Amino acid sequence: MTAAVDEPFDALLAGRAGHLHRDDGVVVPMDAGRWRATAGPADTWVLDRCSGPVVDLGCGPGRLVAALADRGVTALGVDTSPVARTLCRRRGAPMVRRNVFDPLPGEGTWAHVLLVDGNIGIGGDPVRLLGRAVALLAPGGTVLVETGPQPGEWWCGTVRTCADGTLGEPVPWACVGAAALHAHAPGAGLRVSEVARAGGRCFTELVAV
Ligand SMILES: C[S@@+](CC[C@H](N)C(=O)[O-])C[C@H]1O[C@@H](n2cnc3c(N)ncnc32)[C@H](O)[C@@H]1O
Repeated sequence: MTAAVDEPFDALLAGRAGHLHRDDGVVVPMDAGRWRATAGPADTWVLDRCSGPVVDLGCGPGRLVAALADRGVTALGVDTSPVARTLCRRRGAPMVRRNVFDPLPGEGTWAHVLLVDGNIGIGGDPVRLLGRAVALLAPGGTVLVETGPQPGEWWCGTVRTCADGTLGEPVPWACVGAAALHAHAPGAGLRVSEVARAGGRCFTELVAV
C-alpha cells in the first residue's frame, strides 16, 4: 500500500481528544466522537441519497459503511489508517486499507462516492480529489460532500493533527465551503444537484456530467 499520509489520524481515530492545526494558525475542530459512534440523524441526509453501491473515501471507523449495509446498500470504506481498519472489522464494515489515489476496487462502477466529515480535505487539492471521485463513479453517479461552515472558504495547505496535546507530522489538507465547492465543481466534471444543512452540518450532492 502507498500512503500519501503517515497515518496522521490514528490517535484521533483511537479516541483521543483533538483537532487539526492548519499552517496558517487556524484550529479546525475534529469530532472524532462522531466518527466512532453509530451513524446519527445528521448522517441521514447522506444515507438517504445512496441508492446504489457506495464507496466512502476516508471512512474512518466505518459508521456510514455499516449504516448503509444495514439498509441493504452495498458499501466499501477506504482508509489508510490501521486503526480505521481494526475498528471497521470490529463492526463488520467492509473496507480496504489504501490511499484513495491508488487503484481501488470497482473503478468506474460506483453509484455514489462519499467525502464526509471534512474529507474533501484529503490530499490538499480538492479539484484533484473530486476528479478522483469522478473516476470511481459509474456514468450519472453522485459525489456527496460535507462542506465547512464558511461558504466561501477554499483553503489548501498542510495540517498537523493534535491529539491530547501531541502534534503529528504536517500533511496536505484543504478546507472548503459550499459556495467555493460549487464554483470549482465544474472543473472536476461535476455539477451541483442539491444542497442541504442537517444537524448544523452542510452537505452538497454533485452529479457527474
Ligand atoms: C477527518 S477523518 C474522517 C473520518 C471518517 N469519515 C469517519 O467517519 O470516521 C479523515 C479520515 O481520512 C483518512 N485519510 C486521510 N488521508 C487519506 C488518504 N489519502 N487515503 C485514504 N484515507 C485517508 C484518515 O485516516 C481518516 O480516517
